Amino acid sequence: MPRSRHKNYPFYRAVEASPASCAVTPLTFDGMTEKDLQGKSALVTGASRGIGKAIAAEFLARGANVLITARKPEPLADAAADLKALGHVGKVLTLAGNSGDAAARSEAAELAVSELGSLDILINNTGINPVYGFLMDADLDGVRKIFDVNVVAALGYLQEAYRVWMKEHGGAVVNLASVAGLRSSGVIGAYGASKAALIRLTEELAWQLGPNIRVNAVAPAVVKTKFATALYAEGEEKAAAPYPMKRLGTPEDVASLVGFLVSDAAAWITGETVRVDGGLLATGGL
Ligand SMILES: NC(=O)c1ccc[n+]([C@@H]2O[C@H](COP(=O)([O-])OP(=O)(O)OC[C@H]3O[C@@H](n4cnc5c(N)ncnc54)[C@H](OP(=O)(O)O)[C@@H]3O)[C@@H](O)[C@H]2O)c1
Repeated sequence: MPRSRHKNYPFYRAVEASPASCAVTPLTFDGMTEKDLQGKSALVTGASRGIGKAIAAEFLARGANVLITARKPEPLADAAADLKALGHVGKVLTLAGNSGDAAARSEAAELAVSELGSLDILINNTGINPVYGFLMDADLDGVRKIFDVNVVAALGYLQEAYRVWMKEHGGAVVNLASVAGLRSSGVIGAYGASKAALIRLTEELAWQLGPNIRVNAVAPAVVKTKFATALYAEGEEKAAAPYPMKRLGTPEDVASLVGFLVSDAAAWITGETVRVDGGLLATGGL
């Protein structure tokens, strides 16, 4: 299979270069796409648009079933229709609910197992950022809400996934952190602190849940989604100027990394936070 046909799949190169004795699961191919997640089921939270939706599309393209969540039922149903229209064999299920709600988390995990047959992959993608600016003026209820949705809910979802599936069968988890969890911003401080907590939580969980459950995080810089529009309100070109890659991220940039992290090609990676930031932090800036 010529390498050029797989330019969006960096793990393919790693497998291709592996010695024959390497214990990496062989990938199977169906036309242009590796079906390395075939038979697996993934819960992707906050996936009616943006990065979560792109992750769901990536998983479907690689053969998985997906259960996507969000608060608003109609955009969620629209997202499911878009994902089904991609024409992959995997099932697409939806469950409307707030990630901050324990009952919604429990229901999602149970639905994945009862309707999709398993819960091998959990993507804690939901993230909110309602508090901006000087922290001395920050509304503490807003700060509490950020930590509840961005950190506590991620742990809560994993507790549910562990209870219904992963404790017995293992799994792979990816938490959506942010470069704001690695560097101070001066503007989105409460959000950044919550993402820093999520990064530390990722390490603790990796330690406690190995070897059968891997837990990693990704840390994007600005990705063009509804969530981030205020960050490039003065124009994409201006916003992208500090980035070595001279562009902002796309949801697909993040989705391909997440796809790698849940795959067998990342079998020895856990507790890691991988930046997907167009090189921004390499410049020392945020
Ligand atoms: N975009 C960026 O530049 C960027 C950079 C770094 C990190 N991130 C992280 O990446 C993740 C995804 O961000 P995004 O840019 O794709 O956001 P987005 O485009 O705003 O999408 C957010 C998704 O989450 C859902 N959602 C929001 N709050 C929810 C809640 N409390 N419970 C359940 N679902 C909820 C939204 O649907 P409903 O509104 O219907 O609930 C939507 O489907 C977040 O964790 C974010 O912090 C984003």
